[in-house]
Amino acid sequence: MTFTAIRRLPAQYREMSNKEKISRIVEAKREFGSDLFIPGHHYQREDVIQFADVTGDSLQLAQVCETRTSPYIVFCGVHFMAETADILTDTEQRVMLPDLNAGCSMADMANISQTERAWETLTDQFGDTILPLTYVNSTAAIKAFCGERGGACVTSSNSGKMVRWALAQKQRLLFLPDQHLGRNTAADLGIPLHDMAVWNPITHELELADGARVEDIQVILWKGHCSVHEKFTVGQIEELRQTEPETNVLVHPECTYEVVQAADYAGSTHHIIERLHTAAPGTSWAIGTEMNLVKRLAAQHTDKRVFSLNSNMCPCLTMNRIDLEHLAWTLDLLREDVYQFEISVPEDIADSARIALRRMLENA
Ligand code: 13P
Ligand code: SF4
Repeated sequence: MTFTAIRRLPAQYREMSNKEKISRIVEAKREFGSDLFIPGHHYQREDVIQFADVTGDSLQLAQVCETRTSPYIVFCGVHFMAETADILTDTEQRVMLPDLNAGCSMADMANISQTERAWETLTDQFGDTILPLTYVNSTAAIKAFCGERGGACVTSSNSGKMVRWALAQKQRLLFLPDQHLGRNTAADLGIPLHDMAVWNPITHELELADGARVEDIQVILWKGHCSVHEKFTVGQIEELRQTEPETNVLVHPECTYEVVQAADYAGSTHHIIERLHTAAPGTSWAIGTEMNLVKRLAAQHTDKRVFSLNSNMCPCLTMNRIDLEHLAWTLDLLREDVYQFEISVPEDIADSARIALRRMLENA
């Protein structure tokens, strides 16, 4: 479950031609047939996503993994997604992540001991009035923490439904670890910013808006963020409004509240893809999300102008760690029955985390 024993890519894979890596991957896929399933997140690199059996956002990939029976799942995505796949599949199915360093900087912003400490302080202050919700971009231990306390997971595709679900049961919610998705979702449901506070896991303090009253707090936002989506700014949108007023601005809800408010549209990865599919030819779109996806959308929609809202944007570096060489290496090892990159969540954690994930899937 944790990042241990990270072996370096053998030199032979670094020196190998792309043609050779591709032929090894193709050969392994052919050899394993339906025994091997490769899900690929939309933020994966182009050279890797071509080998995915199914592509999707984190919700879609969780749904599809839950129903797959293949004994081997090689997850092209990041660590928390592979953990989710492991939790939702049978114990005898093996889930592998081609590079164990492919984490998520946002998921790293909340660990279980910080969460337990925060919970103790918050429940001392607010009593039994809080339900914990965690974005799937979090460790299995935090998912388990939520599952054990009546809470659930959310993704950017169903966060509205899940926040409504949580507030129908308890007066308040603790939303981990992405403050922006939590704030944007709650604001969208009409909860005033004043009634949201931020939990700072470093100072161990609740940060309130000026003049806000503690007893009115409905949403407690963990102070975490996505280092990729935070690179979109209101300044970029304002500049675009001056130079290209006809361009539509479409952003992911991991962007800040101010960016989401300034944009024309906001929605999950799936929503962004769907909106571009239905957009009229000739329209222009500045997208505020991960760069591999933006480039792919631009290549798919040649009848529209599609570009990144931030002209200096880079791909998500951890998503990008899954490359041809790591995929070829993983599959070569698999052919020798070596499960070097297996993700295996301990059963007790998996059992509780599954409860939180199933609540999310039921509300999808
Ligand atoms: P989705 O839930 O939209 O797939 O997003 C996952 C993610 O990591 C976004 O940064
Ligand atoms: Fe994590 Fe952000 Fe990368 Fe998504 S884009 S995997 S939230 S660091």
